[in-house]
Amino acid sequence: MKVNLSSKDIHHGSLIVVNGEHGLPFNYSCQTFPVDEHSGIRMQRNAAVLLGKLLESAGNGEIVLVSGCRTAEEQQKIWDESLRENGREFTEKYVARPFHSEHQTGLAIDLGENRENIDFIRPDFPYDGVCGEFRRRAADYGFVERYSKGKEKITGIAHEPWHFRYVGVPHAEIMNAKDFTLEEYVHWLRKFRYGHSPLVFRKESLCAEISFLETRGAEIELTEPFSVSGNNYDGFIITQIRRADSSCTGAIS
Ligand code: DAL
Ligand code: ZN
Repeated sequence: MKVNLSSKDIHHGSLIVVNGEHGLPFNYSCQTFPVDEHSGIRMQRNAAVLLGKLLESAGNGEIVLVSGCRTAEEQQKIWDESLRENGREFTEKYVARPFHSEHQTGLAIDLGENRENIDFIRPDFPYDGVCGEFRRRAADYGFVERYSKGKEKITGIAHEPWHFRYVGVPHAEIMNAKDFTLEEYVHWLRKFRYGHSPLVFRKESLCAEISFLETRGAEIELTEPFSVSGNNYDGFIITQIRRADSSCTGAIS
């Protein structure tokens, strides 16, 4: 089918990079869906559905949803309050400025271990127990820990063990295998040019071909199933899925 990639679509999709350098447009809004029935926390539809399944498989009840989709006004309020209460150094480490927070996309979720007095900005989400189980399964549902230890200079944000980002399958698995942040992954994908040299990744009976097209407007022909995501600055990542055959060699490291 013909797929029209327009400049406004660059800001949408599960692989958009939203950080201090790459902000969201001022008219940005995302349609969101409830993750569960009682918390009031919302995410983009795919992310909400898959997070629900991931929580169910990892041990529902022990993990609390702390913060999902935020409006620009909510992000501004969090920034202002943190600046007042915690100072600038802390705030710049742990809170993104309005229009530079991926919480505004509906693709990010903060999680906490279920206990009394959960900190809203820095909830505890350890690496063992149920939270560890959640981490082990996260990539199968398309989620990654977004702000990893040792990558602070690349992400611009301190280590946040509680903040997960939906990037989709199989991207989450590839990012983990390569130990890439989203910034590094999306940059690395630039060399896999659409129509020339896709990244080929095999997962059991399925073959994913992932490629990058630098453009602000194009019409391309794709065969279903596929997904397309903008990178939020200068192009699109195209993921085509087909049945694996002998041409699908999946080594990525
Ligand atoms: N805590 C993350 C960086 C945010 O405020 O979006
Ligand atoms: Zn967060």
